Amino acid sequence: MANVAVIGSQWGDEGKGKIVDWLSSRADVVVRFQGGHNAGHTLVIDGIEYKLHLLPSGIVRKGKLSVIGNGVVVDPWALLREIETVRAKGVEITPKNLVLAGNATLILPVHAVLDEAMETLRGQKSIGTTKRGIGPAYEDKVARRAVRVCDLEEPEYLKEQISRMMEHHNALLRGLGLAEMEAEKIYRALLEIREEILAYRGRSWQVLDEARKAGKRILFEGAQGTMLDVDHGTYPFVTSSNTVAAQAASGSGVGPGTINYVLGITKAYTTRVGEGPFPTELTDETGEHLGARGHEFGTTTGRKRRCGWFDAALVRQSVKMSGIRGIALTKLDVLDGLKEIKICTGYELDGQMIDYLPSSTTRQARVKPVYQTLEGWSENTRGARSWAQLPAAAVKYVRYIEELIEAPVAMLSTSPERDDTILMRDPFL
Ligand code: GDP
Ligand code: IMO
Ligand code: MG
Repeated sequence: MANVAVIGSQWGDEGKGKIVDWLSSRADVVVRFQGGHNAGHTLVIDGIEYKLHLLPSGIVRKGKLSVIGNGVVVDPWALLREIETVRAKGVEITPKNLVLAGNATLILPVHAVLDEAMETLRGQKSIGTTKRGIGPAYEDKVARRAVRVCDLEEPEYLKEQISRMMEHHNALLRGLGLAEMEAEKIYRALLEIREEILAYRGRSWQVLDEARKAGKRILFEGAQGTMLDVDHGTYPFVTSSNTVAAQAASGSGVGPGTINYVLGITKAYTTRVGEGPFPTELTDETGEHLGARGHEFGTTTGRKRRCGWFDAALVRQSVKMSGIRGIALTKLDVLDGLKEIKICTGYELDGQMIDYLPSSTTRQARVKPVYQTLEGWSENTRGARSWAQLPAAAVKYVRYIEELIEAPVAMLSTSPERDDTILMRDPFL
């Protein structure tokens, strides 16, 4: 029985939501294992669009279990709002189909305030975070002062823990000349939603162990992408969690052997939201064209995404770092109509050729992409549902990508719609 981890192989927004939704018809359980509501996963089903931030993308399918694992940072108010929004579209969400790990960290109002304050402090060197409090919440987790879902069950301990946490943060806020925040206020606000949140509380590791033993298929849904990974990404312009496939295990409480196949979601070009190095970025008309045709605006913040050519060196690195067995290549249709298409095969750094993105941020900023130019195609691939419908030049482009990244294309996506998807190799088999 195969369990699949789906992860982004670039800088996020590769189309993970669409692919997870498609694959979830073959799965029984869908699990989020890192990140928080900085994520924005879009699903389009019969023309109806769903934008999911914290809820696993399997939630829209009846009869599937959704799990928010311990590795996720959860803003409880954002979660309740999202549940309401998705319910309003006719989706049933109850403790029967949604489990929230008791050992998941909570994002509290102070975290968003700190996220904003830190970004302001960085000034010109800001990261361009989503300002959802993700970084400060993960900081609290590793500093061992976080409040977790299970703490809501014990009001006395909850109160103490918030006080301890706020002593730390208020010292920081004072130092920054900002208004302090009252621990008592946060505590009371949490008491108000405590029951609603606790209704979903469960043990991610146990639920998944039971599913595994019962022969059920588990789909792990990553957020962000490998290049935003706190260890492997373009540090410090990254998110604050591990986004690589290995995190699916620790972020949900399963052993690494539980994950049988890693599917890397890969856009047929490259985008990035926020600041940081982006070797193949196009600031010219072609970049504008890709952004307009691909509707490249952030699902969470509405910010314009930076666009550029496909970077095979970067995706090849992701393939290795996450053990990607196959990729789902998305948004191929966005390239329709281009006369020529470039692919970055490596970089030039200070006069030397390299085939990887270096770790140092200053070197990352200095690398120059080395391109191969391929012929484009004028035909329409949007909505194609079989390999035979693709023009020869598009097939050539896909085959060249496979060769360069050292991984096969297992799935191909040609529009936002669920069924405009071509399956080459079933990741579950
Ligand atoms: P995620 O964060 O990886 O789930 O990706 P997002 O949902 O943030 O961004 C991907 C966007 O591309 C969404 O608006 C999707 O509906 C859309 N999309 C996904 N696959 C395709 C595709 O094959 N073609 C086109 N044109 N759009 C797609
Ligand atoms: P999905 O799951 C694209 C980016 C932010 C910023 C950096 C740090 O939809 O692919 P954070 O708020 O996490 O501290 O911001 O990470 N970022 C994303 N970019 N897609 C995402 O999620 C992202 N989540 C965070 O823009 O550059
Ligand atoms: Mg997104």
